Amino acid sequence: MSEYETNQFAKDVLAGLSSEPKYLLSKYFYDDRGSKIFQEIMQMPEYYLTDCELEIIKTHKQDILEAIFTHARAFDLIELGAGDGMKTKILLEYLYDKKADFQYVPIDISGTTVKNLEHEIKALFPGIGVVGQIGDYFHLLEEMSRQNGVPKMLMFLGSNIGNMDQEQSIEFLGKLRSVMNLNDLLLIGFDLKKDPEIIMKAYDDPHGLTAAFNLNLLQRINRELNADFDTDNFRHVETYDADSGTAKSYLISQQEQSVYVGSLNQTFGFRKGEVIYMEMSQKYDMEMIRGLAENSGFEIVRNFNDKRQFFTNSIWKPKT
Ligand code: AVI
Repeated sequence: MSEYETNQFAKDVLAGLSSEPKYLLSKYFYDDRGSKIFQEIMQMPEYYLTDCELEIIKTHKQDILEAIFTHARAFDLIELGAGDGMKTKILLEYLYDKKADFQYVPIDISGTTVKNLEHEIKALFPGIGVVGQIGDYFHLLEEMSRQNGVPKMLMFLGSNIGNMDQEQSIEFLGKLRSVMNLNDLLLIGFDLKKDPEIIMKAYDDPHGLTAAFNLNLLQRINRELNADFDTDNFRHVETYDADSGTAKSYLISQQEQSVYVGSLNQTFGFRKGEVIYMEMSQKYDMEMIRGLAENSGFEIVRNFNDKRQFFTNSIWKPKT
């Protein structure tokens, strides 16, 4: 991380651990170790989200891409938070076979992720234009909108939107809308409300991966901010409220303890049973999805669901 990013991390940790109740921001889960654990989570059978979205993209790739083809012969396929691009590879293969005139632009905050993906895609599909971008989505999109007039298909997959609360989602989507032109499209993934037992198994898994994913953030604070969290003294707990569709992750202090964060030169006290709120993973119904689109300046073009109706990929266009 750059010095600026480390300072921001320190500030956010200070704000979160000084607050009542305490919280940490889940965007910090993804250091190298956290990203590896997340890859393992995505491969667990209990984490149905990956399989569902893969099924949708495999089944409906033609229809999904038809939506952008109707607008333009040449276009940019832009993936926000690309990760390993596993699902996108299906779309890329299809476009490659069709000899489509497009450029793939994976954007991620992790430089390693973008570089690896760029190499892999170039090796898999020689001749495809891949222009990886590292950094802030909005800043990069704004520049792209100014630079070339080619229509864009933005992809925000994996129900990543679910890690933002209602207000943050509307703000995020509204900002996306503001850097989109009228013939650009957004392909966005939403995990749907379903039997709570299925959701709980995905987020409170028997392999302990979700627990390790959460605890890794405490270890990251130890590593990067010279803290002395003892992760044995915290336990991961998941809750799911079927009514609102909100799954929440917490770490619970197993005893009264204090933790020193060297970079902040500050000690934080924890009561026995006190929680740190770590992450929300929102589950949606169609009404909520319609509401989000409407409140952020979009119109739904089409929805694609998997066979079990666990997940939806929705195509949105800017509302005029
Ligand atoms: C990245 N995001 C959509 C994941 C989710 O399902 O909320 C992160 C995650 N947290 C625990 N397991 C997976």
